[in-house]
Amino acid sequence: MIYLDNAATTLQKPPQVIAAVVRAMETLGNAARGAHGSSLGAAREIYGARVKLARLFGCGDPSRVIFTQNATGALNIALFGAFSPGDHVISTDLEHNSVLRPLYALEEERGVEVSFLPADRQGRLDYDALPRLLRPNTRAVVTTHCSNLTGNLVDLTRMEAFARAHGLRLFVDASQTAGSQTIDMEAMGIDVLCFTGHKGMLGPQGTGCLLLGPDVELKPFQRGGSGVHSFDRHQPQAYPTRLEAGTLNSHGIAGLSAAVDFLEETGLAAIAAHEAALTRRFYEAVAAIPGVTVYGDFEGPHGAIVSLNIRDYDSAAVADALSETYGIATRAGGHCAPRMHQALGTEARGAVRFSFSWYTTEAEVDAAARAVAELAAED
Ligand code: ALA
Repeated sequence: MIYLDNAATTLQKPPQVIAAVVRAMETLGNAARGAHGSSLGAAREIYGARVKLARLFGCGDPSRVIFTQNATGALNIALFGAFSPGDHVISTDLEHNSVLRPLYALEEERGVEVSFLPADRQGRLDYDALPRLLRPNTRAVVTTHCSNLTGNLVDLTRMEAFARAHGLRLFVDASQTAGSQTIDMEAMGIDVLCFTGHKGMLGPQGTGCLLLGPDVELKPFQRGGSGVHSFDRHQPQAYPTRLEAGTLNSHGIAGLSAAVDFLEETGLAAIAAHEAALTRRFYEAVAAIPGVTVYGDFEGPHGAIVSLNIRDYDSAAVADALSETYGIATRAGGHCAPRMHQALGTEARGAVRFSFSWYTTEAEVDAAARAVAELAAED
């Protein structure tokens, strides 16, 4: 199989990630629930992972690295913990349902107001419209770093400048860029960063992170066992326990920690360069094929994603043909990004998405482009 569905999850993981999960499953107890060696071992593993993630993402305080089950978990904790009735939030048309659905629920259930920065038919945001969306009660800009459908990167410098000028918090969903692009919360003025561990981070599924800047306070989203203050009716107020309830996934976190080691050893710059070269190579090959429509803006900075359609074919039929005839794994249909599909005009048939990782090779990208050309040439 040629696996080009890395934006959904990376399939190939560094061997040390798999070894770390197995070792953790054989040795770790429940962190903060005992004073015996296996419990302390889990606590040490988890704290070590917080320190590494804080360093990788420019978060000044490891206790503000919160572990979640995925990006959706991180975003729910962040968004429900931050906004109160009467608050207004600016988000974008690029967002995934992991941002949209919590925001829509906040609108319906809590009276939070939400506006969306519009995107054009190439999925480019209209940054000039930001001032028009501003209201006296605007509290935050909530934006993805990279569209999971077009791969367009958001100009976080511009978003940050706008947020800073108006005293707004900047929330970033880095699900499609964490592990592939350099992200420094402090340097980039990001207040809240959310991502999953199983995509570009090359860690296990069931891991995700929420990282908080120094002066961000979130209300607890979920409550439960913490291993400390057992007789207190309330969730402990100190981070990270304030936002983490129940047993943590120490096995997955051990894998994520090993993945951070791999990313640091390999170098994010090398990973970004490799993915950018593959993306450009594939884009140039498929954009030249008659009958192929490629979505997104390839003039500006881009993540490791290329989405397309062939003639008037249904995207699911194309993905099936790619899988069955050529052994190429992609994702088709809607991509949990309804506003982005509406902006591109692809609500009805979706799009076929090819997405690359550190482990993708030029030969695989070339084989995929040849398969697209053959499908486009068929009668
Ligand atoms: N959010 C993931 C994707 O874009 C699953 O495919």
